[in-house]
Amino acid sequence: MPSGKMLNFAIVGCGGITLQNHLPGLALCPDVKVTALCDADAATLERARQQTGVTITATRHEDIVKRDDIHAVIIATPNIAHAPIALDAIAHGKHVLCEKPLALNHADARAMAETADRAGVRHMTAFTYRFVPAMHYLSHLVKRGDLGQLYHYRSCRLQDWGTRGLGWRQVKKLAGTGELGDMLSHRIDFAHLLAGPMQRLVANLKQWHPVRGGQPNDLDDWAAILAEFRGGGTGVLESSKLASGRNESWRSLDYVEVNGSERSFVFITGEWNKLQTGKVGGPGLETIEIPREFWKWPGSPRDPSQGDPLVTFRYDQAWEFVDAIRSQRPCVPSFHDGARALAVMDAAVRSAETRQWVELGESGTSNIKHPTSNIE
Ligand SMILES: NC(=O)c1ccc[n+]([C@@H]2O[C@H](COP(=O)([O-])OP(=O)(O)OC[C@H]3O[C@@H](n4cnc5c(N)ncnc54)[C@H](O)[C@@H]3O)[C@@H](O)[C@H]2O)c1
Repeated sequence: MPSGKMLNFAIVGCGGITLQNHLPGLALCPDVKVTALCDADAATLERARQQTGVTITATRHEDIVKRDDIHAVIIATPNIAHAPIALDAIAHGKHVLCEKPLALNHADARAMAETADRAGVRHMTAFTYRFVPAMHYLSHLVKRGDLGQLYHYRSCRLQDWGTRGLGWRQVKKLAGTGELGDMLSHRIDFAHLLAGPMQRLVANLKQWHPVRGGQPNDLDDWAAILAEFRGGGTGVLESSKLASGRNESWRSLDYVEVNGSERSFVFITGEWNKLQTGKVGGPGLETIEIPREFWKWPGSPRDPSQGDPLVTFRYDQAWEFVDAIRSQRPCVPSFHDGARALAVMDAAVRSAETRQWVELGESGTSNIKHPTSNIE
């Protein structure tokens, strides 16, 4: 698919994240057209149709992914529908960008990755926070060896969502897990990016509010993992929806720290163009600016001086997908990254249930058989 040839997209699931990230991201990409929309809810679909002017619409994904005039599909539905829609799209030869968490369990996510590889289509997991310029630069510095040997990975995601209703996110059958999949999955992906695969972990999940917005809540409001990485480092990951007074989204705390034999780095999503760092034996942390070449993803058509950078970094995700399709190279992050995060999530659920440490398999994957498989 060389540049210059129009790339036609279908979007399945036209709710919050499609309007916030996917449509504006695709709109910046040259020679890309959103050709078809699908949403199971007719009113949501109609709103999206009016907003975009896209005329091909359907409430069943089957009617969209089979179309010959569609090259690529973005899946932004509740988690339960990711695997079946992705497998259907792949079976019709479409490239697929799928929201996180990629599936309800590792086995399904791995099947998605392997099926996509076999079909020769591009596949990407929407771990959007990898596109924060400071995280991109931090992963570059860690890869370059500036950290030395990694001793510790630490992440803390603290938001104040109180008892408000979360819709499908509070229903186990639809979401799989609560805070673990919703927020911690991104930070598990950061851990893999910076520290490599995990070897074993012990975890806990806690539900404080069995009712949210007047509806039953089946799922965790808080999740924490204590991990050992294959490389020898340790990990501490915590995420909460109940950090009262912390606010939400990028106004709340999203903190990652890595400590190595040479130095430490601190990343905070809200400070998109800064890192803090300190040298071993040094006087403490200092702030460093992110070099301009990291302010956007390589090749991205986005102008980083336009709009709120804490919103617009997300648009580079669409560019990465489009560029990978055109260059016929693997997407970063791929379905394999999404599957690795799910292996950790499965292990965390198992650990919380059994109150035991759980070993992860070779390269941090899991062999846990899950009752929630969503692939027929
Ligand atoms: N990457 C990120 O930073 C990020 C941020 C928010 C949400 N997400 C993920 O995006 C996905 C969607 O989240 P959201 O906040 O947009 O939810 P949402 O509820 O706002 O939108 C989901 C839409 O999917 C539709 N839908 C449900 N089942 C469907 C089906 N089988 N076929 C077609 N449409 C269907 C619903 O009617 C709804 O309009 C979730 O997996 C979520 O975890 C990712």
